[in-house]
Amino acid sequence: MVEAFQEVVGHVFSSEGSYGSERVEVTLLANKSVYRGEYLCIRHPYEASKPVFIQVETASLRRPSASYEEKLLRDGQVRQDPEKIVGKAFCWQVGYEDSGLVRPLLTPIPPLTPVYRPGPEALSSFIAPGGASISLGTIYPTDVRLSLSLKVLFRQGALVVGGVGTGKSTLLMTLMVRMLRTVRNPHILLIDWDGEFRSGLLEKAAEDGGGYLRVTASTRLARRVRSLSPEAWYSAFRTRAGLTGSSKEARALYAVVKRVEEEGASSMEWSQQEFDRILSMVQSEDVRRNLEERGKTLFKQSPEEGNGVDVVEAVRSKALVHADFSDASNWDEIINRSRGMLEACYLQARSGPSFGVAVFIDEVHNFAPQSPHEGAASREAYDMMIPVMKLIATTGPRNGMPLFLATQRLSEVDKFISTQMGQNIFAFRVEDVDLERLRSIMGSDIAYSARLLPRGYCIYKGHALKIQRPVICVVDKEADVASVGRDLLTRWGSQ
Ligand SMILES: Nc1ncnc2c1ncn2[C@@H]1O[C@H](COP(=O)(O)OP(=O)(O)O)[C@@H](O)[C@H]1O
Ligand SMILES: [Mg+2]
Repeated sequence: MVEAFQEVVGHVFSSEGSYGSERVEVTLLANKSVYRGEYLCIRHPYEASKPVFIQVETASLRRPSASYEEKLLRDGQVRQDPEKIVGKAFCWQVGYEDSGLVRPLLTPIPPLTPVYRPGPEALSSFIAPGGASISLGTIYPTDVRLSLSLKVLFRQGALVVGGVGTGKSTLLMTLMVRMLRTVRNPHILLIDWDGEFRSGLLEKAAEDGGGYLRVTASTRLARRVRSLSPEAWYSAFRTRAGLTGSSKEARALYAVVKRVEEEGASSMEWSQQEFDRILSMVQSEDVRRNLEERGKTLFKQSPEEGNGVDVVEAVRSKALVHADFSDASNWDEIINRSRGMLEACYLQARSGPSFGVAVFIDEVHNFAPQSPHEGAASREAYDMMIPVMKLIATTGPRNGMPLFLATQRLSEVDKFISTQMGQNIFAFRVEDVDLERLRSIMGSDIAYSARLLPRGYCIYKGHALKIQRPVICVVDKEADVASVGRDLLTRWGSQ
């Protein structure tokens, strides 16, 4: 792997004079500069052909200052003196590859060790995951492709954060298009509240991948009778009703459900009738009344659910079901419809291993806000929606229903959900208020570069690479989202 060591950028040098193995301080050559987040490497001390990678956490220039200089500057006397300036990079060790695994070098990295900028192939082979992957863009500042493991993405889903206009929807679009083109037999449910994802290219990718269906707020949806295993019925009820496992109500319900199971029932219907039957078997009147109260809204069907599109069948038979709610008349309609669709898919995914769907929701703070009373829809709509979202965020991925969510503000999404989803995160430029949270999710100061990223650039941190360090990525744009060109100035300009 000779190409790892072509370009020397500097040497290990600690201004304090001590050398460990984790943190590496580098003094750069006069004509070289490095970027925060960039990957560099050194030679392995015992296997010289092997690169040990380090990642730049901060890069800075150092210039010793003399006490009189400030006064000179005040008087307008600027002496550049470039000889005094030294470029520094503070790095963390990432490790080296050893038969497919990334291992840390445990011995100290000696003073004056040469530090290289790795060639593209060396970097790519160090970072790229094994198995099937999708490519989303390039690793900044190189031409190396950033490919993420599909298996991991589908096992964990992903959360996309970033301010308005930073590139979140464009990334979701790229993810969907590439999934549709790469995966055999894909199934995606896209919840699109304002028609942002109406795109000929996306539809075409879906058609080619197995079919496209658009449903809108006025599409009639079919009513489904769903059945679940008793265990799944219990946990769906408990989570949706917001009961803790240790509450009297939950325990009483569990006992009844277990009894039903022992009597030979292998499935239970998710319906009001079934619920009434279960209730009648609860001994304590108090507990029964509480359960009845909690379950009051859970089995309600919207009145318009008649003979119409069966969401589960649609998802099963199409590559992309696009729920385009741009014709909805209010937020409650959007939330209630979305909940119905998600719930139907979730129940199906739980009850049968042959059903699975990747769910995409943009601007998810409108669907699961951290403060429901400040959200766009009514409290009642959120009281039913948020438990469903929580349930899918936690147990969806392992039941073949991962979530791909985007939001402009990390702190505006239900915290439980954002924490669950933080394992795979794409951060575009974020507001300062979200930086500390992002820093703690990413575990690295590289998160701070999210303050300055240009649009279309994001930091990816997650498990879908061979290494679990943040990587700065320039996202490929597959297609424009619909809001592009719909703003006021563009409208006036086109008159
Ligand atoms: N990766 C990218 N490459 C090129 N242009 C991009 C990229 N991402 C976003 N843009 C452009 O930036 C603008 C905002 O993108 P968008 O995805 O709508 O942002 P957000 O959803 O975060 O508000 C659009 O004009 C879009 O075309
Ligand atoms: Mg957007």
